[in-house]
Amino acid sequence: MARLRHEITAVSGKARAGRLHTRRGVVDTPAFMPVGTQGTVKGLLPEEVSGLGAQMILGNTYHLMLRPGVVTVDKLGGLHRFMNWPGPILTDSGGFQVFSLSGLRSLDEEGASFRSHLDGQLLRMTPESVVRAQELLGSDLMMVLDECPPPGSQRDYLAASLERDARWAARALAARGDKGGALLGIVQGGVYSDLRARSVELLAELDLDGYALGGLSVGEPKPRMMEVIEGTTPQLPEGKPVYLMGVGEPADLVRCVGLGVDMFDCVLPTRMARNGTLLTSRGRLNLRNSRFKDDPAPVEEGCQCPTCRHYSRAYLRHLIMAKELLAYRLNTVHNLHYILQLMAGLRRAIAENRYDSYARQVLAGLESPGQ
Ligand code: GUN
Ligand code: ZN
Repeated sequence: MARLRHEITAVSGKARAGRLHTRRGVVDTPAFMPVGTQGTVKGLLPEEVSGLGAQMILGNTYHLMLRPGVVTVDKLGGLHRFMNWPGPILTDSGGFQVFSLSGLRSLDEEGASFRSHLDGQLLRMTPESVVRAQELLGSDLMMVLDECPPPGSQRDYLAASLERDARWAARALAARGDKGGALLGIVQGGVYSDLRARSVELLAELDLDGYALGGLSVGEPKPRMMEVIEGTTPQLPEGKPVYLMGVGEPADLVRCVGLGVDMFDCVLPTRMARNGTLLTSRGRLNLRNSRFKDDPAPVEEGCQCPTCRHYSRAYLRHLIMAKELLAYRLNTVHNLHYILQLMAGLRRAIAENRYDSYARQVLAGLESPGQ
């Protein structure tokens, strides 16, 4: 049986809705995956995360490899058992974190060497070791090791890097064991459309279970990012899910679903929540602002999340100003509810073949702050 099957149930323009069949259950697409970097979606119980509508979460191989160690997680029954999340888990390979978090590093054909951001220990990742690590975690959707080049990288550098990424993807596939999860390739090539096309061409030759767009939202201008996505999605092999890595601003989710993206992950809703920024259909609300000091209204009128049903902006502002732990929980509940409901609305609009008008309406709301 295929490790991953993406069943398309409806299309509306270039947007598509479907069901992603994983070995641990079905995920409705387009889907947003909350980020659980260290084996927890910060502040919430797994049943709260699924209660908010999340069907799949993301874990980070890099972090779990450093602490507590993937062998430890394996001994304790795998990541699902360890963190009590029985649903599907996608794990990032560590390619991105090595470049964004770790110190001294060197890159060669064989793999990447880096220093742990925790204790400075010199460590190494290869395409094979990273597949093995994700297998020990019990990942359902594994990502190949890739290089996420910094924005502004020279064209020649990007061209050579994506060729190596494709060789690494082939090695990763060869290293996967019988019990390994699905394996997704990562399209790179910076903001150059011909390099992106080359990356797609190389990865499409491999029997990967899905395709991710990497190296985006790393500082390039937003219109460039959209052009790259618009140019790349039509070139990807049909019948496989398309995953845009690290993108999660509400307006970007709406626009990228309209370009044919099926899956997203981002720390934005959860990280912003912890810092007092709440997402609403009329844009962001910074609860630290003194204008909310006496505001009895909920974060968003009509929001059915547990936070908005019971607590005022004034109370949430008080909690965040006082650095109370409950602030992180209540704000994360609202932001995840908002994003997951946004995705549910997009799926409905696709099913009813009215995506473009619905997207325009949502985008107009986001751009007209009125609170
Ligand atoms: N997360 C966000 N962007 C990337 C990327 O380019 N590669 C990987 N592995 N993870 C990412
Ligand atoms: Zn709410």
